[in-house]
Amino acid sequence: MKQSIGIDGPAGAGKSTVAKRVAAILGIPYLDTGAMYRAFAVAAKRHGVDFLDEETLAKLVHEVDVQVRYEDGVQHMLVDGEDVTGELRTEEISQGASLVSRVPAVRDRMTELQREVAHEQRVIMDGRDICTNVLPDTPYKFFVTASAEERANRRYKQLLESGQEADYDTILHDIIRRDKQDSERAYKPLYCGADTKLIDTTDMTIEEAVEAILSEV
Ligand code: DC
Repeated sequence: MKQSIGIDGPAGAGKSTVAKRVAAILGIPYLDTGAMYRAFAVAAKRHGVDFLDEETLAKLVHEVDVQVRYEDGVQHMLVDGEDVTGELRTEEISQGASLVSRVPAVRDRMTELQREVAHEQRVIMDGRDICTNVLPDTPYKFFVTASAEERANRRYKQLLESGQEADYDTILHDIIRRDKQDSERAYKPLYCGADTKLIDTTDMTIEEAVEAILSEV
């Protein structure tokens, strides 16, 4: 079995779009690890636990059952058996996931679950600590990024195209705040390791980014 592929990078860099295409071309599953932190943030919210209450979050992560399930090749997240996939993409949960992911016990539990998936099969997974922590031994490590302005612009257009309201400055502000939180947290922060290939998509098409990965794997 060939080794799994890891992609890290900041919010909104296009990691998941690129990873999904590579997964389809190689015929391997794609695991969105951010969705796992988001699912745990949903669980915390339901239990009335504050996203800043590290002690209670550290206990809660051993009490709730966070599961990944694939339906027709699409990743769903289950919390205690209930499908919460539809609740993962709000701004509150984006911010919540970034906050709960600072807690070491939460990270360690998610890392364990992610390694179980990669142990069973070759997968491509994206997140913030895949290359540096979850799959340190894989030779296929990528850091996909783009300028904060370009990422905000893409998100802004995406929202408008799907008929939703959007404010560019708010989006940019949220992106910068999440970048800071994810890369400055004390435990297992986001960074690009020396053995990781940097792919800056600011002036690249999705196809070019996909090609950059395929040419290595
Ligand atoms: O990739 P995303 O935006 O869905 O991730 C949501 C949050 O989860 C992100 O802001 C930080 C956290 N996260 C993490 O700490 N480690 C990962 N491997 C994936 C996500």
